Amino acid sequence: MNERIDIDLIAAARPNFIKIARLYHALAEAPWARVRLVHTGQHYDANMSQSFFEAFDLPTPDLHLNIGSGTHAEQTGHTLIAYERACAARPPAWAIVVGDVNATVACSLAAVKLGVRVAHLEAGLRSNDRSMPEEINRIVTDRIADLLWTPSSDANDNLRDEGVAEERIECVGNIMIDTFVHMHERIEADGTRERLGLEPGNYVVATFHRPVNVDDRAWCQRMITALHALADIRPVVLPLHPRTAARLAAFDLHDALASHAHIVLMPPADYIGFMNLVTGAALVATDSGGIQEETTYLGIPCLTVRPNTERPITVTTGSNQLIDIDALVEQAARIDARRNPGRIGRVPDLWDGRTAERVVASLARRCVGA
Ligand code: UD1
Repeated sequence: MNERIDIDLIAAARPNFIKIARLYHALAEAPWARVRLVHTGQHYDANMSQSFFEAFDLPTPDLHLNIGSGTHAEQTGHTLIAYERACAARPPAWAIVVGDVNATVACSLAAVKLGVRVAHLEAGLRSNDRSMPEEINRIVTDRIADLLWTPSSDANDNLRDEGVAEERIECVGNIMIDTFVHMHERIEADGTRERLGLEPGNYVVATFHRPVNVDDRAWCQRMITALHALADIRPVVLPLHPRTAARLAAFDLHDALASHAHIVLMPPADYIGFMNLVTGAALVATDSGGIQEETTYLGIPCLTVRPNTERPITVTTGSNQLIDIDALVEQAARIDARRNPGRIGRVPDLWDGRTAERVVASLARRCVGA
């Protein structure tokens, strides 16, 4: 056997860990590859990082950059410097970045300038909203990466519209669904909803962490009013992202949110516990990207409190709907009124649990001609 090909697999934040999970294991099994797991350290709390590594049987990262929190420039800049150093010390043939967080763009930039080829998994998504930091990260990463693995055909169209050459684009499907499919039995066997006293099919899961939804006091108050009105109908369970918890504390609004008897506040849940809550929910209200996709896969109604989404296929094909915060209760009631027990929407093509396999095959074709 010839020398193995060095590949860096980079992850930074909670949703990244879900995306690299199956890919790490698939690459580790590939006889031609030697994978180095790089954690940039953007998320560092145990329940935002370690618990995910444990759930997914991921080893301790080979390299930890310990970047931590900061402004966008600080986080991006520190990651750029630290990863450049790591790359220069042991240049991989390929760096794989996922998603749209600050580390995605920072590591891509460090790598391409050192002549390391970059592959972006979850490429081509666009909200067309440049006020979102993630949109800037997506545009820049896709512009400089060599290979763009997309989750759905609409992402291919976005890239073509931006003039990306066809040979750089490959639709591989949705990597988050791989993780769900692999963990499905453990998710079903988990007792989180029972522990919280929630009746399957009769509660709402809510998550909010986007700056646009949590960084302004008046907006937070509107959010609390909407969630209380929702909780008048059925219990609402709300795992609090650290950003959201910090904002509520700073605005002195935490107790106001918690004051409703049917609002269940909890710290960030681990993957299995959280997905146990989602799979039993009547409805999900969120501003997350990944949850729009997971609910689409499950056919569970999802109300996304955002003016746009980089994942329009979850609306056109799946179970997602974009709404204004003030319309939350009205839309929830409408979903209730047309409720039937079956799933809603359709699962997009290639959201089948085999994306990691396709990614490894795509890379093998380029690395060893397989
Ligand atoms: C980041 C991503 C976002 C993703 C989200 C998932 C960017 C631009 N944004 O946003 O796309 O949806 O992760 O969670 O990369 N904090 C902790 N402990 C942690 C991590 C963060 O307390 O382990 C707190 C810090 O106060 C920090 C704040 O949360 O300032 C926000 O964290 P940060 O990593 O800046 O962005 P997220 O809001 O998590």
